[in-house]
Amino acid sequence: MTPRLRPASVADLDGIAAVEAASFEAPWSRELFAQELERPIARVLVADDDDDEVLGFACWWSVVDEAHLLRIAVDPRARRAGLGARLLAAVLRDATVGGCARVELEVGRRNVAALRLYIAAGFVEVGVRRGYYQHPPDDAVLLRAELVAPAGGPLAGG
Ligand SMILES: CC(C)(COP(=O)(O)OP(=O)(O)OC[C@H]1O[C@@H](n2cnc3c(N)ncnc32)[C@H](O)[C@@H]1OP(=O)(O)O)[C@@H](O)C(=O)NCCC(=O)NCCS
Repeated sequence: MTPRLRPASVADLDGIAAVEAASFEAPWSRELFAQELERPIARVLVADDDDDEVLGFACWWSVVDEAHLLRIAVDPRARRAGLGARLLAAVLRDATVGGCARVELEVGRRNVAALRLYIAAGFVEVGVRRGYYQHPPDDAVLLRAELVAPAGGPLAGG
């Protein structure tokens, strides 16, 4: 079955933390994601299967007209099947509908999989933060995607 995308709830926290732990050398804790679920500017989206098992997630902030993608990850067993691209497309769509004009993020220069995912989705490099990451050591590339509001959408008419 094609994984379903939906807003995360408290019941997803263990699954999100498991995907996170399998995806990053310095993973966020379950508690940190619990805080994100409570934070008014934060959005957390999960992809799950028929058994409600979390296969991937994205976490971003929406501040005035700008969104910042903090985290996106797919369970290693579910990668290279288009799920990361679907999650990212959903973030861009939700940010657009929410009135954001752009989405920004940082990604490690050596994180080829994520860089390709973002570039394919229309992000462009706008800067570099040298030595930004420690686990593993890496520069952060700043990427930005400009969003185009649908005609008559929240950005129309200024
Ligand atoms: C980055 C990540 C979310 C991609 O998830 P995914 O579900 O495997 O991605 P998709 O299958 O949707 O791939 C979309 C595109 O991304 C690129 N891509 C994804 N994985 C790649 C890899 N291992 N090598 C090269 N390109 C890759 C490709 O361009 C791919 O398109 P293609 O399959 O048509 O070639 C996943 O690798 C991951 O969770 N990584 C660890 C966490 C992380 O680094 N997150 C980003 C930093 S916050």
